[in-house]
Amino acid sequence: MVVIVGASGVLGSRVVQRVLDDGSSVRAVSRDPDRLVAAAARGAEVVRGDLLETGWEEGALAGAERLVIAAHGLVPPSRRNTPMAVDGVGARRLIDAAAAAGVRQVVYLSAAGAASEATAFGRVKRATERHLEASGAPWTVIRPSVFPENHALVLLGAPVRAGKPVPFFGAGEERINWVSADDVADDVVRCLDDDATLGTVREVRGRDHLSRREALELVEAELGVQARRQHLPVGVVKVLRGATRALHPGLHALLDLSMHEIERGGDPEDEPERATWVGSTRVADVVGAWVREGAATAT
Ligand SMILES: NC(=O)c1ccc[n+]([C@@H]2O[C@H](COP(=O)([O-])OP(=O)(O)OC[C@H]3O[C@@H](n4cnc5c(N)ncnc54)[C@H](OP(=O)(O)O)[C@@H]3O)[C@@H](O)[C@H]2O)c1
Repeated sequence: MVVIVGASGVLGSRVVQRVLDDGSSVRAVSRDPDRLVAAAARGAEVVRGDLLETGWEEGALAGAERLVIAAHGLVPPSRRNTPMAVDGVGARRLIDAAAAAGVRQVVYLSAAGAASEATAFGRVKRATERHLEASGAPWTVIRPSVFPENHALVLLGAPVRAGKPVPFFGAGEERINWVSADDVADDVVRCLDDDATLGTVREVRGRDHLSRREALELVEAELGVQARRQHLPVGVVKVLRGATRALHPGLHALLDLSMHEIERGGDPEDEPERATWVGSTRVADVVGAWVREGAATAT
């Protein structure tokens, strides 16, 4: 039995699908089980769990062999559901419960950039990685770069399709690495199948190193439209990052990540040369499939 927290997410839903396809049983966790109707229809057991709350973990982990933690509190930015509360305190509490329950493996979804702890988000992820490493539970940490399924389709493609301007922090010209959630899900499942990955940190990357503007150009080319762009000037992002530090830590974490990308001209930690494993799916393929699916749904 594999317990998946964050099972409704872009990555978690793909992991649920793959584990079920492999013939293993899945317990899928969400704050709102209605989000897991499709997983339930495919045979997953669905339970309610919220990393901000206590008392559900023991039941959710009963009989579990492995646990995948694929939840985060970065987006949408919230005053309560913050990275500190979700990726930090909540994930650490769940790790302690998994260690007490004697699970055979905890796979924790961290993020590229955790190693340097250069951002508020990276520091939270790294602190949870350390907690996991010391927990006594056998562990695997996966640090992927950004998923085009969120960062190209949701952040760029959805507004284009809706005829709305596409928001950018700054010019959006910094090149970052992109790895498809499909490839990351494959890697999660590989780790669940392979005890040689226990006690290892996996820097997972993709083949594309693109700026957010270049990713938007791919969306525009596939959709055959020219999007309007709305650039929040770098000076404003910087001021907002400072102003939100105490007032809105959730928004601060997001702005801090964005400013890091701008100030570093991308993220040196993203470089594919650092990768433990490089997925083969291209951003253009993810965008193309999304456009074709949208066209098929519309007809
Ligand atoms: N997206 C990226 O580009 C990227 C890059 C690097 C690393 N990662 C990491 O990969 C993992 C998966 O990311 P994703 O993009 O697939 O996520 P996503 O699609 O944005 O979904 C977020 C997930 O987090 C869950 N969640 C949020 N708050 C929660 C809470 N309080 N309690 C329990 N669950 C909560 C949500 O579940 P419900 O709403 O159903 O409760 C949802 O399943 C995360 O750990 C993330 O940090 C993502």
